[in-house]
Amino acid sequence: MEYKNLLIETTDAVATLTVNRPQALNALNSEVLDELGRALYQLEYDSAVKVVVLTGAGEKAFVAGADIKEMADMSSYEGHRFAVKGQHVMMAMEKMKKPVIAAVNGFALGGGLELALGCDFIYASQKAKLGFPEVTLGIIPGFGGTQNLSRLIGPNKANEMIFTGRMIGAEKACSWGIVNEVFAPEELLDKARETAAAIAGVGSLGVAYAKDAIANGLNMVKEDGFRYEASLFGVLFATEDQKEGMAAFVEKRKAAFKNR
Ligand code: HXC
Repeated sequence: MEYKNLLIETTDAVATLTVNRPQALNALNSEVLDELGRALYQLEYDSAVKVVVLTGAGEKAFVAGADIKEMADMSSYEGHRFAVKGQHVMMAMEKMKKPVIAAVNGFALGGGLELALGCDFIYASQKAKLGFPEVTLGIIPGFGGTQNLSRLIGPNKANEMIFTGRMIGAEKACSWGIVNEVFAPEELLDKARETAAAIAGVGSLGVAYAKDAIANGLNMVKEDGFRYEASLFGVLFATEDQKEGMAAFVEKRKAAFKNR
């Protein structure tokens, strides 16, 4: 499939999806959001892909936000529609069976940080700067940021970031639990792909069900989450991969998973 603003490169079951609009620091306009929606759908149903790494083109930015030049003249209704369009992309990543790892190589601001937060976890370069400058523009985060950040790090730290609009560095983002690990800029993509390859090497059904249990369980009261987890756990015993995984352990060999 052809994309104007995205690059997709797949090696050994790991797809690297790059937002490629460096002249605007990879800002998300409607066209990029539409393309991201299509690309995620394509990757979800591509049997050659097991894990996705999402990054931004160029030295400077992961994604510097939603496109301010496109938003500048929007009506209230258009603003609402634009927010929902971006939220569809975040929900698509959450609903995907395949994990998506964000490799934040530079600025992740506003909608760019929301895109990273929509991934399953975030690795960042030492040079990365994360923030929600929306209040400096007279708006608020609209691609799920108020919800995802506060659920991830609690309301108090999220309040500070969103109310001030200040950027924080990668190390602070790591200590706050936004970023899982920080790497030298030249190492970041390789490290993200290495982890992606490790995930691609285990049973994809288990990974998909674990993602489902965690993402959906977070929206439930704990007892329902436990019940949901047990149901998914039970379903896995109807798969060939569970038989193979446990037989391989007993026979002291590497499991040959078939995703069935
Ligand atoms: C449109 C953008 C952009 C953006 C950068 N550019 N960010 N265009 N939307 N979000 C463009 C600039 O206009 C410029 O193009 C080019 O990219 C390079 O950017 P510079 O500003 O010249 O680079 P620099 O001086 O290094 O500053 C980097 C920066 C700054 C600090 C990241 O670009 C910046 O503050 N960007 C905006 C960040 C932001 O406010 N993001 C949140 C947006 S609101 P030209 O053609 O002029 O050279 C948001 C809402 C999400 O994301 C929810 C929506 C529903």
